[in-house]
Amino acid sequence: MTIEELKPPDDMVLPDNTVSGLQPISLLLQRRRAAAATRRHKAAYDRYSSVAVYKGPSFNAHLGCDEFPPHPNGWFCVGVGRQFPPGSVMTMPFMGSEIVIYRTRSGRLRITRPFCPHIGAHLGLGEVRGENIVCPFHRFEFGPDGKCDRTPYSEPPRISLSLLPSRERYGMVWVWNHHEGAEPTWELPSLDCPDVKTIRYCDFNVLPQDMMENLFDYGHFKSLHGLDVLPMGRPETDGPYCRFRLRNRHHLPVVGYIDENIEVDIAGLGMSHSRVKLPGEHRMSSWVMTTPLKENVTRMWLTATLTPVREGPVSRRTQDALEKVLTRFYWTLLAQDFFVFQSKRYFRHPGLAREDSQIGWYRHWCRQFYPPVDAPS
Ligand code: FES
Ligand SMILES: [Fe+2]
Repeated sequence: MTIEELKPPDDMVLPDNTVSGLQPISLLLQRRRAAAATRRHKAAYDRYSSVAVYKGPSFNAHLGCDEFPPHPNGWFCVGVGRQFPPGSVMTMPFMGSEIVIYRTRSGRLRITRPFCPHIGAHLGLGEVRGENIVCPFHRFEFGPDGKCDRTPYSEPPRISLSLLPSRERYGMVWVWNHHEGAEPTWELPSLDCPDVKTIRYCDFNVLPQDMMENLFDYGHFKSLHGLDVLPMGRPETDGPYCRFRLRNRHHLPVVGYIDENIEVDIAGLGMSHSRVKLPGEHRMSSWVMTTPLKENVTRMWLTATLTPVREGPVSRRTQDALEKVLTRFYWTLLAQDFFVFQSKRYFRHPGLAREDSQIGWYRHWCRQFYPPVDAPS
C-alpha cells in the first residue's frame, strides 16, 4: 500500500488504548524480559567463541587508498551454530551494514537485514515468539518465510523481512552475500570432517582476499613462519572451489625428516579448510574463515577439530579439550601473520617475483567473486 492509499477512513476504529494501571507494568516487565533475554543471548554467543583484540604494531595502511575492491560475493561465516540457541536474536556487522541472526523455537535459523519493513525499527532489539520474530516497536510478527503474519491492531500488511540466504554447515553458520542480492549460485562443499564446536576470532584492517592469499604465498612460509612448506602439484579448481596439497617438512634429531601432508579446500573468499593426516585413522582439521564487516575491516575466524571421535562422555570431554589445544596451536601459528594483516595495503599491481607466480594465479581466480567491472587485478 502506498502512503496516499493510507488515508484514515471516516469510520476508523482505533485500537483500545485505554490506560489501566496494569498496562504500564506489563510493558515495563516486557522490556525487562527483553533486556534479560538480550544478555542471555550475548552470553550464549560468548560461551562458544573467544574474541581476541590485536594489540601489536599497527599502521593505517589504507589512508588515502582508493584501490579497494568491493565486498566479494559468496558464503561467509558468522559463527558456530551453538552460539544461536532457539529463541536467540543477535546483531552482527556485515558488509558495511548489519545483519540480525535469530533462531525460532523449533530451531530454524534465519538471517535478515536489520530494519523492520513496517517503519524501520531495529529487529536486533526484537524477540522470538514461537516461529516468528516480533518487532520491538509496534510488535508486528514475521514468520520464517519473512512475511508479516500478525499485528496487535491491524490486518497484517503485505510486507516482508529482507531475509538473506543462510546455511548451517560443518557446525558453523553461513550467510550469502551478492552485490545485486541474487540467490546463491553455488553451495558450500561436502567435506568429511566433524562439526566444529567453538571458534576464535579477531578483526583486522585487511581485505578477505588478502588474508586468504596467505595460503598461496609460499615465500612467506619460510621467511615469516620458518616452515619448509612446498606445494605438491598445481591447485585444482572448479568454479568457486579450489583444492591443493602442501607438504610441510620437519627435521627431527635422530629421526630425520618427517613430512606432513596438508590438503587444503577453499570455497570462495570466505572459507578454507586444511586437513592433516595423522598415523592411523586420525585427522586434524583447521579452519580459517574471513568475513568482511565493513570496508577494510575483516573478521578472521579460526577453529580446529580432530577425528575420529569415540562415543561416550569421557572421550567427548577429552576430544573437546584436545580440540581447544589444537585451536590454540593454530592460532599461535597464524598470529605470526597478524602484524602484516593489520598494516598491509592492497596493491592492484603487486611487484611479484617469479617464484610468486601462484599469487598472480590466485588473484586471477579471485576475480569471479566480484562484480565484473570491479574485479581486482
Ligand atoms: S517498525 Fe516494526 S512493527 Fe512498526
Ligand atoms: Fe602465514
